Amino acid sequence: HINVLIDCDPGIDDLLALTYALAHPQVKIKGLVASGGNTTTEQVARNIRGILELAGRQEIPWELGAAHPLAQELETTPETHGPRGVGYAKLPDRTTPTGKSHGEGARLWIDTVSQHPGEMIGIVLGPTTNLALALQQNPSIVQKLKALYIMGGAINHRGNTMPTTEWNVHSDPEALHSVLRAYSQPGLSHYPVLCPLDCTESIVMTPGHRQALVAGGGTVLEAVDQALEFYMQFHESDGLGYIAHVHDPYVTALAINDALQDIGDTDAHILGSSTQTVLDVELDGKLTRGQTIADWLGRWGREPNGRVLTSTEPEKFFAHYIHTVRAAYAR
Ligand code: BDR
Ligand code: CA
Repeated sequence: HINVLIDCDPGIDDLLALTYALAHPQVKIKGLVASGGNTTTEQVARNIRGILELAGRQEIPWELGAAHPLAQELETTPETHGPRGVGYAKLPDRTTPTGKSHGEGARLWIDTVSQHPGEMIGIVLGPTTNLALALQQNPSIVQKLKALYIMGGAINHRGNTMPTTEWNVHSDPEALHSVLRAYSQPGLSHYPVLCPLDCTESIVMTPGHRQALVAGGGTVLEAVDQALEFYMQFHESDGLGYIAHVHDPYVTALAINDALQDIGDTDAHILGSSTQTVLDVELDGKLTRGQTIADWLGRWGREPNGRVLTSTEPEKFFAHYIHTVRAAYAR
C-alpha cells in the first residue's frame, strides 16, 4: 500500500478526489488538511467531515489549516463550487468540532511526514498555504517526503482566474513561492510535480463519464452526482459547455499511480509524464501576480526546484477513476 496526506479545499473536484482516494484499496490516507480556498477553512472542514461520514471513514485524521493565506485576505469562489463548496451535494452537516484550531494543518503535515520518513506522498489540491507553513517550521520535511504533487499554475496556458493565473496559486502566491524556495537545493530525491491547467484542462468530464460514474447510486455517488450538476452548470455558464474540468481527481490518481509503479505494482497506470525545470511565482507584477513561470531554457541560471506535468492520458484516467470509485461505492 501507499501512504498519502491530502491537503485540499473541497470544492467539487476536491470532493471527487477524496472519493477516489477513499475508494482505492491500496491507499492509506494518513491525514487530511482542510485548506481555505474554494470556501472558508471551516466550511472545507465540514465538507471533509461530511464525506468521511458518508463513506464511513471517520477514523481518518484531519486538521484545520490556516484561516488565511500567507499575505492576503482569503477569497472564496461560490460561483464555481456553490456557497457551501460542494455544489448541490447534501453532505451530513456538521459544525466544526471544538478542540480543533487553525494552523493545526501545518502540524499534521510535520507529524505525519516525520512519523513515516521516506514513505509519504503529499498531494495538495488547494492553495499551498499549510505546506508552506509546515516547511517554514520544519524544513526537513523536504527530505522526509517521498513525493509531492501540487495542482496549480498555468505555465504556457491562459489562467482560469486572471489572464495568467490559476485559482490555487492566485489564492496564495506567497505560499507556492515559499514551497518552491524550500526545494531550491540540489541532489534531492524528489522535486514537487506541479500539475498546471495546461494539463489538467485536458481532463474533461462529459455527461457520459458522469453517467457511467454515478449509475446505480448509493449515497456517496448521489452526493458526487449532485456536486457535479452544479459544477457542469458552472462550466456551461463560463462558456465551456456542459462539462467539468476535474483537475483534482486527476492529480490524485496520477500521484497514487506513480507511487504504485514505484513500488513495482504492475497494475498501476501511467497517467502522465513530467519534466524537471526551474519554477517560480510572480509576486509583484501589477497584471501578473500569481503567474507561474518555468525557466525551460535555464536563462535564470538556477538549480532545478521542481517538475512540470507535461502530458496526460485523459481516457485512461476516466476508465481507472470510474472503475475504482464504483467498485467501492456503487450499490
Ligand atoms: C483548482 O481550483 C479549484 O477551484 C479546483 O478545486 C482546483 O483545485 C483549479 O484551478
Ligand atoms: Ca481544489
